[in-house]
Amino acid sequence: FYLYIDEEAMSKTIIVSNRLPVKVTEEDGQYKVATSEGGLATGLGSVYQSGDNVWLGWPGVEVAGDDKQNEVTQKLAEVSLRPVFLTADEISGYYEGFSNEILWPIFHYYASTYANYKLADWECYQHVNRKFADAVIAIAEPGDTIWIHDYQLLLLPGLVRATRPDISIGFFLHIPFPSFEMFRLIPWRSELIEGILGADLIGFHTFDDASHFISAATRLLPVNSSSNIITVDDRPVVVESFPMGIDDEKYGALTRDPEVVSEINYLRETFKDKRVFLSIDRLDYSKGILQRLQAFELLLDTHPEYIGRIVLHMIVVPSRDTVPQYMELKQNVDRKVGDINARYRTLDWSPVHYFYRPFPINTLSALYHVADICLVTPMRDGMNLVSKEYIASRTQETGVLVLSEMAGASKELIDAVIVNPSNIASMAEAMQTALTMSLNEQKRRMRLMRQVVSKFNIKHWVKLFMERMREVKQMQQSMRSR
Ligand code: F6P
Repeated sequence: FYLYIDEEAMSKTIIVSNRLPVKVTEEDGQYKVATSEGGLATGLGSVYQSGDNVWLGWPGVEVAGDDKQNEVTQKLAEVSLRPVFLTADEISGYYEGFSNEILWPIFHYYASTYANYKLADWECYQHVNRKFADAVIAIAEPGDTIWIHDYQLLLLPGLVRATRPDISIGFFLHIPFPSFEMFRLIPWRSELIEGILGADLIGFHTFDDASHFISAATRLLPVNSSSNIITVDDRPVVVESFPMGIDDEKYGALTRDPEVVSEINYLRETFKDKRVFLSIDRLDYSKGILQRLQAFELLLDTHPEYIGRIVLHMIVVPSRDTVPQYMELKQNVDRKVGDINARYRTLDWSPVHYFYRPFPINTLSALYHVADICLVTPMRDGMNLVSKEYIASRTQETGVLVLSEMAGASKELIDAVIVNPSNIASMAEAMQTALTMSLNEQKRRMRLMRQVVSKFNIKHWVKLFMERMREVKQMQQSMRSR
């Protein structure tokens, strides 16, 4: 008898990200796990919830003590999740410190203003990446595929590779990869590249990010590259762009949900004689919130005929509020909104409706559907999924997207009104262009963008990456057997 083992069928996929795709909360000593509506969670849902597959990451809260950790571990196991618990010091050094005070600003081109190179944070980042590696190695078996996500875990591919040389590892960066001149500023730049190169397939949102990475790798390390393949100790590593999409069908269907429809009707009544600008961002200096407000103010300055007739509905979702730069930004945004409203408001009208809190997806859907213009004007953004959510929610096929050329999405959504977010005057002009665009022109552009968002959706993105992983594995096997 021959025992035939189908390795592919027996193997599993392990997804790893800093944060698990759920919200864990504690109430009266009891832990609750709520599913997340996030794009990555939705897209990878079909992957980690099938077979023995699993998603590994930090539950997002500090859980101290074995009993509590066991309770959370059990609750998460029911939904195919495995926690990596972090202590308060680890959260401070690895997450707030190295990830968000060094990598985030550098990768978003904010080097001189914000990067804060602390050796202790680097040590903590290495330590936590090792902690993640131990958790992966404890469950990884030969034939498994590991898909690691984002800048918090740049060392993880290398750490796993060192112990499991034959395992298949994919890595995807959700934020921009900066040009070499920016990246080289980081004191530990070579170690970071070595870490990423532990993967077999390295994915970025855009072609530019992929080429910046290849340039940094070949300039910092003794590795060869030919086209998009970097050879590391005879192991080919493939570097490619995979622009991430959204679940467009979900956003389309939401606009027909009775609860959303009643919110839409309410909003239409509220805004009945106004043109509505919408913006939705996490609170982050990379999102260009202050610059957008300046442009809106300039529009009111130069076009007083819009006073009382336009509204900027601005949702800012609290984020990383323990990091000093984010606290400072919050104060500046508060002040700027206050200034604009104080200058222009009338007894029955305020130009900026500012909300500093998260909203349920139904409300966001209704807002996307009702807003005449969506402003997505980050100073730098890996992709920006809000722009795609707006397009997917425009089932009526009108509406204008004003989109920063610094967002990865601008490479795909070329029929948006594209702006340079540093050029305040041209952003104000783009707002005016959007306000005066004919319905026919809006429809022409919107239909083209809706085709892009629907064709390159999240399912397509996951499928493409997973298929490419298999191809790279086959390529490596055939090279080894030569
Ligand atoms: O897209 C970048 C990213 O840091 C993701 O990794 C993360 O899911 C999201 O932004 C929110 O960030 P945080 O986990 O720091 O709240």
